[in-house]
Amino acid sequence: MAPQEPTPQQLSELKQKYTLAGQGQVFTFYDSLSSEDKASLYQQLALFDPTYINTIAAKALAPPETKDDGAAKPSLEPLPDSARASIMDSKPEDIDRWYSEGLDLIAANKVGVVLMAGGQGTRLGSSAPKGCFDIGLPSAKSLFQIQAERIRKVEELAAKKAGISGVTVPWYVMTSGPTRGPTEQFFKEHNYFGLKPENVFIFEQGVLPCISNDGKILLESKSKVAVAPDGNGGIYNALVESKLLDDMKTRGIEHIHAYCVDNCLVKVADPVFIGFSASLNVDIATKVVRKRNATESVGLIVCKNGRPDVVEYSEIDPAIAAEEDPKQPGVLRFRAANIVNHYYSFRFLETIPQWAKTLPHHVARKKIPYADLESGETVKPTKPNGIKLEQFVFDVFPMLSMSKFACMEVRREDEFSPLKNARGTGEDDPDTSKYDIMAQGRRWVQAAGATVVSEDPKAGIEVSPLLSYGGEGLEKFAGQTITAPALINVD
Ligand code: UTP
Repeated sequence: MAPQEPTPQQLSELKQKYTLAGQGQVFTFYDSLSSEDKASLYQQLALFDPTYINTIAAKALAPPETKDDGAAKPSLEPLPDSARASIMDSKPEDIDRWYSEGLDLIAANKVGVVLMAGGQGTRLGSSAPKGCFDIGLPSAKSLFQIQAERIRKVEELAAKKAGISGVTVPWYVMTSGPTRGPTEQFFKEHNYFGLKPENVFIFEQGVLPCISNDGKILLESKSKVAVAPDGNGGIYNALVESKLLDDMKTRGIEHIHAYCVDNCLVKVADPVFIGFSASLNVDIATKVVRKRNATESVGLIVCKNGRPDVVEYSEIDPAIAAEEDPKQPGVLRFRAANIVNHYYSFRFLETIPQWAKTLPHHVARKKIPYADLESGETVKPTKPNGIKLEQFVFDVFPMLSMSKFACMEVRREDEFSPLKNARGTGEDDPDTSKYDIMAQGRRWVQAAGATVVSEDPKAGIEVSPLLSYGGEGLEKFAGQTITAPALINVD
């Protein structure tokens, strides 16, 4: 049913709310709108509390406290040894044990996966959601398909180990206003990539109004507020609002893997990570990769004032950033680069309603198309004219004591290759994603005993996730010669 215009009383109440909050400009064109547009603008405005928006915008815009006022600097340390492990130097028997325990938990249907796919992917510049993007693999698979097939494979591996059938890893896919419709359509068109639709949940995160540089809510057109998704930290509220925590509870999910859609190498529901985190009985664990060098501009997982936290590159003194680990000469002391790839215990996610509103908002300065309040015309600015307010998924870390947090270092070439930029950029773009997947496939078949020949030394092998999740099961290629580039599918 089309939305109805508000009654005069409803309208005057809402107008008063916005006017009192100094945001009455959102009604500038209201009286000139069609009945339908009046109804939809009213509905949109009724979703927000302008006083709350003012408060979070003011907080986000407040200048950071000055550090030279004699106040103590925060103490920054790498995470203690007790809270971290590295795939590079853990004992093989430990890794095997985590893998085995993780598979057992998957087989017991205790593991779920949450995907953060609500971003607008502005740098990539594709009109479709990032997950639909074809990075140019021989199979032409989208990121969504690759990830779905990894879920299918890990279900299969777990079922095989347990000697059962019917293992399920539910997939909770967070989208946002702009990405929900096309994501749903894409999943339907592709038959949920072979997953059962009842085990795939496409849900929507919240949006917040965009704010001008002087604190005013922006209109995108005469009848529409400019809005943007509330950041990947919106995942917490969205899991509650969409009642998906209830679904997890009903299913008996105890361990959750959460990750970003743009990492083509992500090991979805990685048994090693699940087993590692569950065996430590932590509430959050995070995967990291090794910082490439002292000046790489990445966020770092650290112990800040005794609590787990993420600090930006700029927050660390360059001399400290360059320090070597006394236990590992040649390796940086602060090296745990954040890749937004997390484990959560369900018992922790159940506490979301107690703290979701307290997570801070951060400012992203953007070029936001806006309706000029004189002419009503939509203007496309050429430089940033306002802010989007975003919550960060990792802002929850400091809520935990160190004993409830852990970090696992993984190999970048095996687990992290984000798709951020448009083709041709040369960094974190579709070509680097494709290369990283195919280089990994090449390493896998070589490790299985195959010989790879190619005219182009950079040509690789695409191994279908339905054939191998992490390099296992490729024994039949031992002794074979494979000409790259190639695609290896299941028989
Ligand atoms: P980015 O911050 O890289 O944003 O998201 P993006 O939308 O992919 O790209 P740009 O910045 O517009 O070019 C990192 C991850 O967080 C998710 C994204 O979908 C991606 O998986 N994300 C981001 C959300 O789920 N919701 C948001 O509001 C923002």
